[in-house]
Amino acid sequence: MKAIVCNKFGTPDTLQYQEIENPAPKKEDVLIAVKACSVNFPDTLIVQGKYQFKPAFPFSPGSDVAGIVEKVGEAVKHFKVGDEVVGFIPFGGFAEKAIVKAKDCFPKPKGMSMVNASAFLLAYGTSYHALKDRANLQKGETILILGASGGVGLTALELSKLMGAKVIAAASTKEKLDLCKQFGADEVINYTEENLKDKVKELTNGNGVDVIYDPVGGHFSELALRAIGWKGRHLVIGFANGEIPKIPINLTLLKGASIVGVFWGAFAQKEPKKSFDNIQQLLTWFAKGDLKPHIDTIYALKDAPKALEAMMNRKTKGKIVINMEL
Ligand SMILES: NC(=O)c1ccc[n+]([C@@H]2O[C@H](COP(=O)([O-])OP(=O)(O)OC[C@H]3O[C@@H](n4cnc5c(N)ncnc54)[C@H](OP(=O)(O)O)[C@@H]3O)[C@@H](O)[C@H]2O)c1
Repeated sequence: MKAIVCNKFGTPDTLQYQEIENPAPKKEDVLIAVKACSVNFPDTLIVQGKYQFKPAFPFSPGSDVAGIVEKVGEAVKHFKVGDEVVGFIPFGGFAEKAIVKAKDCFPKPKGMSMVNASAFLLAYGTSYHALKDRANLQKGETILILGASGGVGLTALELSKLMGAKVIAAASTKEKLDLCKQFGADEVINYTEENLKDKVKELTNGNGVDVIYDPVGGHFSELALRAIGWKGRHLVIGFANGEIPKIPINLTLLKGASIVGVFWGAFAQKEPKKSFDNIQQLLTWFAKGDLKPHIDTIYALKDAPKALEAMMNRKTKGKIVINMEL
């Protein structure tokens, strides 16, 4: 099969597009013919050796896959050859075939394209877990979303609106903020031009926000936390900015506020029943037309390094997807 292969850690241009052996499923796995795999920020880190774990070489990046079941392990009962599925893997998705644990696979809803399916699980799964399970976001509350036009950011925006919250979307360009408005943002802040803390205070009559969704990190995290309201919850999603912020802890005391960690992958492994229920809810919303993944650009498999570069250069909005059929 063809795959994008990482033979040594480095920038995306060091990745190879090459022919490799088909992987073989173990007892509890399914082998799927991958039709599409979306790109997530951790893919840019894993190839550089900067992610939480470092796979053995050679490996392919890519964790959000959609495709057709080609083989099932002997212990797998609820999938069969030919089923259309969507699944989550730690790596291995930028390839024509991938192994997914059957427990991390879901039937792909009819009417959902392979491209949309591959762009769904990780981004919506993370945001729904963050908003519902970690922030307990309530109808009528106000949420500030940093990096709001990004992969997870835009799903947080859609879900916050669906949950009845008021959304302040923050991003770096007018074009990105225009997209946030199309997705229902009530207010927008260009945080490269305006002071994030002052603007949030102004938009909330000095009260601050109830929830902060923060996939960006760096100096934006402290500016945002300084604009949190009483009993606010600051969700730590990630550090796309590249810098892990060090926060003066007194800021939480003054507001009775909490800094709350979010790790969807670990949640899905440690609390599978809750995670399964969340995914079912998200798929139901999708089927009703309440959620519409925004696909920015679709790349052929051989061009996956360009997709990773675009994401690292802050050039993408919503999701970007590798389509194996191009
Ligand atoms: N905790 C979890 O379970 C979980 C799950 C999935 C993802 N994540 C994390 O969430 C973060 C976002 O992931 P994603 O897939 O949504 O990525 P993405 O689509 O690239 O979005 C990241 C956003 O961050 C902003 N950003 C600010 N500084 C940046 C920089 N120097 N380089 C790149 N982007 C920068 C960009 O928006 P502006 O240009 O508007 O600033 C961009 O839209 C990553 O840190 C990822 O590891 C965490």
